[in-house]
Amino acid sequence: MTDCMNAPHPYELAQFLTNAWSALAPQIVGDKRKAQVATLSTVGQGGAPAARSVILRAADRSRACVDIFTDAATPKCAEIANDPRAALTLWRADLQLQLRLSGTIEIDEGAEAKAAWSALPDHALPNYGVTPPPGSNIATAASYTRTPVEARFAILRLTLFDMDVVSLSDPIHTRAFYERRDAWRGVWRAP
Ligand SMILES: Cc1cc2nc3c(=O)[nH]c(=O)nc-3n(C[C@H](O)[C@H](O)[C@H](O)COP(=O)(O)O)c2cc1C
Repeated sequence: MTDCMNAPHPYELAQFLTNAWSALAPQIVGDKRKAQVATLSTVGQGGAPAARSVILRAADRSRACVDIFTDAATPKCAEIANDPRAALTLWRADLQLQLRLSGTIEIDEGAEAKAAWSALPDHALPNYGVTPPPGSNIATAASYTRTPVEARFAILRLTLFDMDVVSLSDPIHTRAFYERRDAWRGVWRAP
């Protein structure tokens, strides 16, 4: 990954975008408290915004998409099936970089999901298969079970329309906006 922290600030749009994609690369961390957390926003039932924390699992610049893993029984999946528009916001404090991605999500439960499931460590599997389904009211705090269910595992693939990047690095704050329909050439914006 590019060492954005020590590199001089790029005042060139293409390099600024390269730094942004480097910042989106999922970091492998042994300690879950250090995992890179992003906020995924969807269109909730009734049209109100709905947001929650997620972990970024993959980023592919050539297709301009990012992946999140989820339990297909979570309410967000029903929201996405109803309206696939979504936004993902990420603050990389170490790089002083904010990334705001927007696009549409496809829910993948096919071959790629099967491959990703096979690669998950054992301790992660019970995250996909809570009964009753996530978000259900329960009688006591512990009135649920966690059993791995492969059929409940899904990849949420966010394919980007655009990306807004803000850098708070010295010496000045900088911001740029990139769009797929502009072939990701980008334009500087007032921060
Ligand atoms: C630090 C952190 C990371 C999380 N990562 C994920 C994730 O990668 N995927 C996911 O579906 N839920 C993740 N969750 C749980 C969600 O924030 C949320 O509580 C759950 O998915 C139900 O969301 P929904 O009711 O909006 O569908 C995470 C929660 C926390 C606190």
